[in-house]
Amino acid sequence: MSLRPYFFGVYHWRERLARIAAASALVAAAIVAFRRGGRTLRAVAVGIGTGALYRGGDATRRLLSPPPWALDRPKYDALGSILRIDDADRILDVGCGTGRSLVGLAPHLPDDCEVVGCDVFDDRVILGNGPRLARYNGARAGLAVSPVAGDASRLPFGDEAFDAVTASRVLHDVPEEHRDAAFAELRRVCADDGTVGLLELPVTPDGIDDHEAYWRGRLDDAGLVVERVATVARPTREGTYVAIVATPGRT
Ligand SMILES: C[S@@+](CC[C@H](N)C(=O)[O-])C[C@H]1O[C@@H](n2cnc3c(N)ncnc32)[C@H](O)[C@@H]1O
Repeated sequence: MSLRPYFFGVYHWRERLARIAAASALVAAAIVAFRRGGRTLRAVAVGIGTGALYRGGDATRRLLSPPPWALDRPKYDALGSILRIDDADRILDVGCGTGRSLVGLAPHLPDDCEVVGCDVFDDRVILGNGPRLARYNGARAGLAVSPVAGDASRLPFGDEAFDAVTASRVLHDVPEEHRDAAFAELRRVCADDGTVGLLELPVTPDGIDDHEAYWRGRLDDAGLVVERVATVARPTREGTYVAIVATPGRT
């Protein structure tokens, strides 16, 4: 077993590094002013320096949230334990990113199944988001991941290409005007006797509070029949993750 850590990338890295750089510059300016200034300037420098230190510390804490090496397994176990895909030969994880969801689901996937991860792989939001880390992290969890670049609302796969299709913490990121298309794509690429698994955050459009009902409704609208639901608390924030398993409805 490899002792190398996982590396799942750094979230919102550009915005947070910019805040850290701005706070560092303010702290440096405050130190110079404190050294050179009289009593009033020194008092101002202490106030500005203290505020900048606080803001820089907060940005650093956020930069490491979630920690790039941490999996937070329970939410993936919640989905994995209701997936029931022992017979699946081909599995697709939509929005796999750096592979965190595939690593989390790995203990629930059948041995020797083909594992494909699809993502837009945009590293402007997540530092390191790309096929290389999806493969690296997957391999550490015993999966041979084949990463494919593609958009959830126009998946680059044929109809019914997979026995199981998962999408973890992705569809809330897809703009609302493309979300119906993304759900229709989950249905299209899933075999008629296959399974779709969704793991989502309590992030819903304005005016909608019940995220479980919202995400169930989206699956339903795409012609998917909800079979099982599980919820799990979020470790550092309010609210729950919801895991939903659905199957293609008879048409
Ligand atoms: C919060 S990350 C989740 C990654 C992984 N599934 C997990 O559970 O950690 C969201 C991922 O969705 C991807 N994503 C966002 N919009 C997408 C789209 N329209 N099509 C495919 N992937 C998308 C992002 O690039 C990112 O990798």
